[in-house]
Amino acid sequence: MEEARTERWIRPRHFVFAALGSAIGLGNVWRFPYMVHEYGAAAFLIAYIILLFLIGIPWILMEVGMGRRMQRGAPGVFAGIGRKWEWIGWWPVCGAFLIVSYYTVIMSWALYYVGSSSVMAWGVGESGAKATEGFFFNEVLSISSGPGVLGSPTGIMVLLLAITWAVIFLVMHKGAPIIGRVSQYVMIISWILLVIIFFRGITLTGAVDGLNWYLDPNFADLLNIKLWFGAASQIAFTLSLGMAGMYAYGSFIARKGDVTNSATTVSLGNAATSFFAGYAVFSTVGYLTYALAVPVEEVALESLGLAFVAYPSVLSLLPAAQGFFGAIFFFMFWFIGLSSAYFLAYGGVVTPLADKFGWSRVKTSLVVCIVLFLVGILYTTQGGLYWLDIVDRTACFYVLLLSGVFAAIAVGWGFGADNLRQHINETSDFSLGAWFNWVIKIVLPAVLLFVVIYGGFAKDLTKPYAGYPVWAASMIFVLLVVTLGVSFLPQLVKSGSSMASSTSEERR
Ligand code: PFF
Repeated sequence: MEEARTERWIRPRHFVFAALGSAIGLGNVWRFPYMVHEYGAAAFLIAYIILLFLIGIPWILMEVGMGRRMQRGAPGVFAGIGRKWEWIGWWPVCGAFLIVSYYTVIMSWALYYVGSSSVMAWGVGESGAKATEGFFFNEVLSISSGPGVLGSPTGIMVLLLAITWAVIFLVMHKGAPIIGRVSQYVMIISWILLVIIFFRGITLTGAVDGLNWYLDPNFADLLNIKLWFGAASQIAFTLSLGMAGMYAYGSFIARKGDVTNSATTVSLGNAATSFFAGYAVFSTVGYLTYALAVPVEEVALESLGLAFVAYPSVLSLLPAAQGFFGAIFFFMFWFIGLSSAYFLAYGGVVTPLADKFGWSRVKTSLVVCIVLFLVGILYTTQGGLYWLDIVDRTACFYVLLLSGVFAAIAVGWGFGADNLRQHINETSDFSLGAWFNWVIKIVLPAVLLFVVIYGGFAKDLTKPYAGYPVWAASMIFVLLVVTLGVSFLPQLVKSGSSMASSTSEERR
């Protein structure tokens, strides 16, 4: 049995809050509500719940359970299964590195909007509401004509990015004890802010119409393969899986600590938050369509358009206290992103490096924050948004899902799904049945592979992603190959600390 860590959550609930913090992020506020609306409302919710139990919960149990079992971050977990599998843990580390490099830039835009909405820089009333798109793309991003025209970094965004990274460093440099404690406050404050936005939303005229669009069921959509594909990719994304961090968070759980209850609580709490955020978002959208007398189809709902175009329009149209609600909304946006960002940086990057090379956590955190800040400057340029999108497709789709396929196969067949199940069951209130083994061995890798092929390769290999020039769209595959190659490198280096020098897993 491997040496146990000394780095621990101070209380069991700290794991729950920290993991909830990683799961609840920008995706709950814009991605989930949009998907519910797009894919037949109640039909999507049914698919989401089925897939949450079928793949989401088993997958998070696998990552947290293996982290606790091996007492290591992702690379150490797979090195523990067999030396030659260490790369399976490094690939998602590369993914986490890429994601957090741009996630923090989106957070910086939110910070910028805390300031600009408090003075309603794009204007109030109907003219303000119509100016938000131009404001975002031209004034905030000064967007260029394409990925080939990079331009120069935007000073104010670089400054806000530096502030964001400074806060991340302060929270994470001492590791799990502080991360756990801080996460409790981050989550509770985020929920309070969301509740304020919810009440502002549902008390606006037209809110009911918005909620009707949100939840109007179309059960025929259950036969639409796209709905199942959308639900599966949303679950992987929202639970922050396939990004290395959850193994590290699991490894900070004490040997006798529970896994099943906590991981299930995280999954359900995250789903409930998404559902609730949908009310806040769609009641507000209802008001927008009412006040501007436009159909819902004309409102920019997907992706960043919702937060940075549609929501600012609503603010312009509010009868009073526009700046106050604007500051609250964008601060909430930055804040829910914060706990996902330090999860990626600390669990996804710092812990694996410190485990492997025996480096100090404080110094590793400092270097990682500085390097990621420097990389992030790329996205503050005029062409930055295009690159953000390309890196997002690479890391948050391909690396996330493909590394999940490899991980499930290595754990299911290499380590043995049954060994993992017994390990988890030892300390849990309710036992996982033998079904769990088959989910890890077959269902999970098969579903993820299907999503990658159907929603990824089948599209991106026939048409350049998002209509970009071929050279830019091919960067997705270049980045994939490069990160995969890089993942094999640490395997060639001997571990620098006794903690990390685990050999083959001793079977139970
Ligand atoms: N779960 C986060 C969200 O829904 O916004 C996003 C995310 C964070 C994805 C961390 C992946 C990750 F590792």
